Amino acid sequence: MQAIATERYARTRALFERGLKVIPGGIPGHLGPVQSQFIPVDSYLFYVERAKGSRFWDVDGNEFIDYMCAFGPNVLGYNNELVDQAAARQSQLGNCMPMPGEIQVELAELLVETIEIADWAFFAKNGNDVTSLAVMAARAHTGKTKTVLFKGGYHGVAPWTQKHGRPGITREDLANNIYVKWNDLEGLENVIRRQKDEIACLMATPYHHPIFEDNALPAPGFWQEVERLCRANDIVLAVDDVRAGFRLDLAGSAHYFGFTPDLAAYCKAIGNGYAISALVGRDELRSAVTDVFYTGSYWSSAVPMAAAAATVRELHRLDGANLMLRLGSALTEGLRERAGDHGIRLRISGAPSMFYMSIPSDDSLRSMQTFSSECARRGVFFTSHHNHFINCSLTDDDIARTLEVADEAFDVVAKTHPKATQGE
Ligand SMILES: Cc1ncc(COP(=O)(O)O)c(C=O)c1O
Repeated sequence: MQAIATERYARTRALFERGLKVIPGGIPGHLGPVQSQFIPVDSYLFYVERAKGSRFWDVDGNEFIDYMCAFGPNVLGYNNELVDQAAARQSQLGNCMPMPGEIQVELAELLVETIEIADWAFFAKNGNDVTSLAVMAARAHTGKTKTVLFKGGYHGVAPWTQKHGRPGITREDLANNIYVKWNDLEGLENVIRRQKDEIACLMATPYHHPIFEDNALPAPGFWQEVERLCRANDIVLAVDDVRAGFRLDLAGSAHYFGFTPDLAAYCKAIGNGYAISALVGRDELRSAVTDVFYTGSYWSSAVPMAAAAATVRELHRLDGANLMLRLGSALTEGLRERAGDHGIRLRISGAPSMFYMSIPSDDSLRSMQTFSSECARRGVFFTSHHNHFINCSLTDDDIARTLEVADEAFDVVAKTHPKATQGE
């Protein structure tokens, strides 16, 4: 293991040694090796030098076909020229100024035209800014305090989104959360029956995409019943589309699944890498969002707004969500076949544009770690235990090369992990 790290990733490791001295943990958060989903850590790079289209190059000069897309923001392809040109034009005019630019109105109009439920848009920087705003707006609107969440759902890192027992998190931080299981309508109904007078908000991702476990689509009729329960009990229904937004449907993931939330939180895919997030919502929530006190130093910056407007227009031109679903289907069908050629039953869950991979016959998860590690060594960037992301610039050649690499990687898995070939 050490050999891979030292030969292939010499500069990455040297840089990390420097980073460790001046940055807590070397690389903060989930991108650092301490909290990483890139397991085994030795098989992966830590620092990227440049990226273009569907590929990136690490600081050691290794090239990768990328299926993580910077955890989602890369939706059109890295350094997309149209987006970068729009950003550069705005930059000539000004970015962080005393007041917002005209582009703020233009972008809001574009989102209102694009996303089915949107009557208005509010801009911030990160996904967590807008999931937190959704909860505050729901409280302001209903005069109630609690939020229903689905266990294992991820909505950011603000204290209210975290888990009991994590350093720095108190019971009080989580006191207003009520957790139910994904797709468990009976459990949800029980909670709402008992606590409807306290529940301000139900927040959920459009489908369940936790880490370290198979992802789950909504059961037939699930969302329609959730919506009915929320409407009947004065609960604001907020969809966290930070991850899936624009990778299922440009009109919103709720449109894809056929329901109508009150609020939807967006971030990753709307700016193609420029820092911007948005909460969009229905007219009923307009005055609550106007009333809450909520702002940030860079939230009105015009450059990311120009980049976002160009991104959304290009996604329309390409029919981006359907393109990514198609590319994801071609890739995942190929992966399943290649795995099958080696006697491995690969399970793909979630949407094809955001697929999750597992080998269910090995519950130790090690087979999957070996697979992603062997792929990383050969220049294909998958993670072991997180959903992947497709972007619009992925080519047929990228997919063909990925399948060649996957074939070799599954061969190694089959030879080194007897459980992987046992099927279910
Ligand atoms: C579903 C979901 N919600 C919220 C967030 C938080 O977004 P951010 O990291 O931009 O604050 C994420 C980030 O991964 C996410 O996937």
